[in-house]
Amino acid sequence: MNTSLSIDNIMQCVRPHLRGLRPYSSARDEFSGQAHIYLDANENPFGSPLLSASSYNRYPDPHQQAVKERLAALKGVSPKQIFLGNGSDEAIDLLIRAFCEPAQDSILITPPTYGMYEVSAAIHNAGVVKVPLTPESFQLNTQMVIEQSKHAKIIWLCSPNNPTGNLLRKEDIRAILNHTHCLVVVDEAYIDFSDDEGWLPHLQHYPQLVVLQTFSKAWGLAGLRLGVAYAHPQIIELLDKIKPPYNINAYSQKMALQALEQPRQVALWIEQIQRERQTLHHALKALPFVDKVFPSDANFILVRVHDAPAIYRYLIRHGIIVRDRSRVVLCDNCLRITVGKAEENKQLLDVLQHWQKED
Ligand SMILES: Cc1ncc(COP(=O)(O)O)c(C=O)c1O
Repeated sequence: MNTSLSIDNIMQCVRPHLRGLRPYSSARDEFSGQAHIYLDANENPFGSPLLSASSYNRYPDPHQQAVKERLAALKGVSPKQIFLGNGSDEAIDLLIRAFCEPAQDSILITPPTYGMYEVSAAIHNAGVVKVPLTPESFQLNTQMVIEQSKHAKIIWLCSPNNPTGNLLRKEDIRAILNHTHCLVVVDEAYIDFSDDEGWLPHLQHYPQLVVLQTFSKAWGLAGLRLGVAYAHPQIIELLDKIKPPYNINAYSQKMALQALEQPRQVALWIEQIQRERQTLHHALKALPFVDKVFPSDANFILVRVHDAPAIYRYLIRHGIIVRDRSRVVLCDNCLRITVGKAEENKQLLDVLQHWQKED
């Protein structure tokens, strides 16, 4: 058992040159109180051409304190356990940047999974150790992950997983946390669509655990670009040190605060999507050319059909875009279909019912 892994052990895995890094100190770091004349940040004193939005001539809070406080209250964590990124893609990038020495260190991923882990690793010239999920049930090969983790700095687990839609079993993730020495990132971009509480309640037990969530899915704010990493305050401090100083713009911060006042609206959408997901699951299953509809805890469904590329093209001709995942490992002939509004799902099913194999 590896219950003795401490935050000091994890911080030893940070790239050595970053450990003593002095971050950029912005004008807003050096003075963060209230004043009536600001001549410290070389901003435009007149405002901006956007007359209705004159405060955009000023730089935003680099620490996003107001958003973090509101989010911390909603999620039951401390603001010090929160990093905000320009999408969770930024958190993915920064975690690899912080822990993986180029041409030396590796991350471990469990395909089929979200593509950006591998792309970000490639950008940083980090290696990628792949331990595929089990075929069809898409669960972790836990023993193999533990064995192979000695070649990796970060283990990336996506739950609910994209593109398969299923949650990874809690006991498997717990075994990985207990028997490896890596940073373990659980990407919960889709957790809001599941009835599972996810891994946030376990943060205090595992200093090596990072949980990623996003405003892009259930919160309906993909266009704002706002992702969240929850972790031990020392890991958050490290990410804050290496991020671009003003990575979350003023508009995103303002809109996030407004959105966070409306959790009830988000909960209603989630309920609707869960209901639609079930309806769509059963309707897809009944189609003659569908081999398998995989169970989903996310806002999309993976479905195996007779000829995925042909059906994909057929849907495009009818103005409906889904994701062809048939070239992804373990996903032969699979399409990933986002759960839409009831009317959209109905149109999708109407079109699918008329599909006939192309000559
Ligand atoms: C599993 C997973 N993680 C992260 C992301 C990126 O989300 P964001 O929009 O916050 O960058 C996605 C986007 O599709 C995703 O599927």
